[in-house]
Amino acid sequence: MKEFWDNRYSSDEYVYGKEPNSFYKEYLDKINYSANILFPAEGEGRNAVYAAKMGHSVLAFDISSSGKDKALRLAKDSGVTIEYLVGDLKSLNLKPESFDIAVLTSAHFPPNLRQGLHRDIAALIKPDGIIILEGFSVNNLQIRRDNPEVGGPDREDMLFTKQMIADDFSEFEIITLEEVDTILNEGDLHNGKGKVIRFVGRKLGNNKTV
Ligand SMILES: C[S@@+](CC[C@H](N)C(=O)[O-])C[C@H]1O[C@@H](n2cnc3c(N)ncnc32)[C@H](O)[C@@H]1O
Repeated sequence: MKEFWDNRYSSDEYVYGKEPNSFYKEYLDKINYSANILFPAEGEGRNAVYAAKMGHSVLAFDISSSGKDKALRLAKDSGVTIEYLVGDLKSLNLKPESFDIAVLTSAHFPPNLRQGLHRDIAALIKPDGIIILEGFSVNNLQIRRDNPEVGGPDREDMLFTKQMIADDFSEFEIITLEEVDTILNEGDLHNGKGKVIRFVGRKLGNNKTV
């Protein structure tokens, strides 16, 4: 898996572009405080660099060291600093409940890892903190077969349903959970009309119920 991603990121081209994911950007642009934001599976750094440019404190991680190299280059070219770790989440020993926000875009994990990773990420969020997620729906599979340019995993068991996300982040109050058609324009690898799951959730505080 690491080899696959290192290889994908080996060219100078930013394969998912340098601009942030538009769903995440829309949310972040409304925030009026300085947040500590976690970017799991951040790849080439487009989202983390955007947050750093907005004055937020940023920690990204990914299994790909090529992704890290490109993210640090993008940060430097943009005049900001980001922290970026390479490795499996468990090996990074991040402090529980230490982030205000986590951002996952196109972060698809194998089915034996997905729920555990999502729950481990959830544990890193402070009470009342937020998860923002956008990923391809299971219903993108046929769309991708008809138009490979739209990208996304070509395996059903790597894709998302709304129910899956609600279950994985069950201790979050749902602010947004929807399956939508969207026009993707992200580098060379996500282009055209795709179907995505979008989620924004707020972690329930100690005394809160939905
Ligand atoms: C489609 S890319 C998306 C990158 C970035 N989130 C974006 O939207 O530009 C998926 C990323 O997931 C990363 N990844 C896959 N499995 C991972 C894991 N177990 N832990 C951390 N990152 C992982 C890959 O290295 C790759 O960078």
